Amino acid sequence: MRTIRVAVIAGDGIGPDVLAEGIKIMNTVAELDGGFYFEFTHFPWGCEYYLEHGEMMPADALDILKQFDAIYLGAVGYPGVPDHISLRELLLVIRKGFDEYVNVRPVKLLKGAPCPLAGVKREDIDMVVIRENSEGEYSGEGCWENKGTPEEYVHQTGVFTRKGCERIIRYAFELGRKEGKRVTSVSKGNALNYSMVFWDQIFHEVAEEYPDVETSEYLVDAAACHFVRDPGRFQVVVTSNLFGDILTDLGAAIAGGMGLAAGANLNPERTFPSMFEPIHGSAPDIAGTGAANPMASIWSASQLLDFFGYEKYGALLISAIEDVLVEGKTLSPELGGSAKTWEVGDAVCEKVQARMTEM
Ligand code: NAD
Ligand code: IPM
Ligand code: MN
Repeated sequence: MRTIRVAVIAGDGIGPDVLAEGIKIMNTVAELDGGFYFEFTHFPWGCEYYLEHGEMMPADALDILKQFDAIYLGAVGYPGVPDHISLRELLLVIRKGFDEYVNVRPVKLLKGAPCPLAGVKREDIDMVVIRENSEGEYSGEGCWENKGTPEEYVHQTGVFTRKGCERIIRYAFELGRKEGKRVTSVSKGNALNYSMVFWDQIFHEVAEEYPDVETSEYLVDAAACHFVRDPGRFQVVVTSNLFGDILTDLGAAIAGGMGLAAGANLNPERTFPSMFEPIHGSAPDIAGTGAANPMASIWSASQLLDFFGYEKYGALLISAIEDVLVEGKTLSPELGGSAKTWEVGDAVCEKVQARMTEM
């Protein structure tokens, strides 16, 4: 029987709670299918680990993780450990170290999910943001000079390579071609005279290779406005690391909330494991209360199933989430209900079972 070996980094705050539900559902799918099996291995890395060991994960963490088929991550970061340490020394190390240069973040308003926008049709919020995930504004390069003096200054360097820009833009075009969708580039060439002028140029070059794919382009500020006023104009969006980060939280806000936003960090060549995670953080404000919505982490489990060739189950998981949303009986507080994280997980699991036995 096929075994899919998954490294689990539940992390901090609500991370462990929401991941437990995704794992429950992946196990249910595999059991009912009968043809494959998930082997989950848990790693206790994160802020608590840091406080005990002085590092977010061991020095050989990537060597350990490399032996797995995939990584399933909850959330990292907690008060008590500076965010630039907790995230730069775990999450970003994995994304970069495993060359997970594609961050696929669907922004789709599911049936039954609430939308704060007036006058927008459900089907108008249906896009996928392809976020560059390995370089750009997140290069980590820079300096802090004359620290503590009046002449103090910092440089935070964005690094945009031809290879890095071409491959992410090409990924978006391949997706656009496959799905017959328009590809929209979001950049900021009017102010960022090196990085975004370069990005725009490469977008135009790659676009020429795909004359069959319709394109559009927006400056990121205007794009933010259109996300709210007219999201229907976006189908496949390709953008830089930081812009993608910000736009996808905005995307979450228009598509049901942080509890419904998932992301896949893909190494498309499969040289290294890809990583699947909800896009939200550790939510210290609700940690330990059972109020976290696990639907985003279940959605990222659906992306994992897609990645391993089980697209029919990936789609089934989304339908099961929709069943629970439409029924409206078992919703977390974020969505106006009072159900606990595990109750929402159980409800989705039941819908998965019902749909799979009907198949
Ligand atoms: P956050 O995403 O943790 O929380 C933002 C808001 O959304 C909070 O009000 C929170 O309660 C709510 N929320 C988030 N997920 C939810 C869920 N599943 N169900 C219901 N409500 C949910 O962002 P933040 O507060 O800016 O960051 C908290 C910590 O998480 C920081 O340390 C940050 O660096 C880290 N972070 C980690 C990741 C990651 O590991 N992938 C992502 C984002 C932020
Ligand atoms: C995300 C997060 C991370 C990012 C942080 C925690 C470093 O906000 O996955 O969206 O900015 O990529
Ligand atoms: Mn983010």
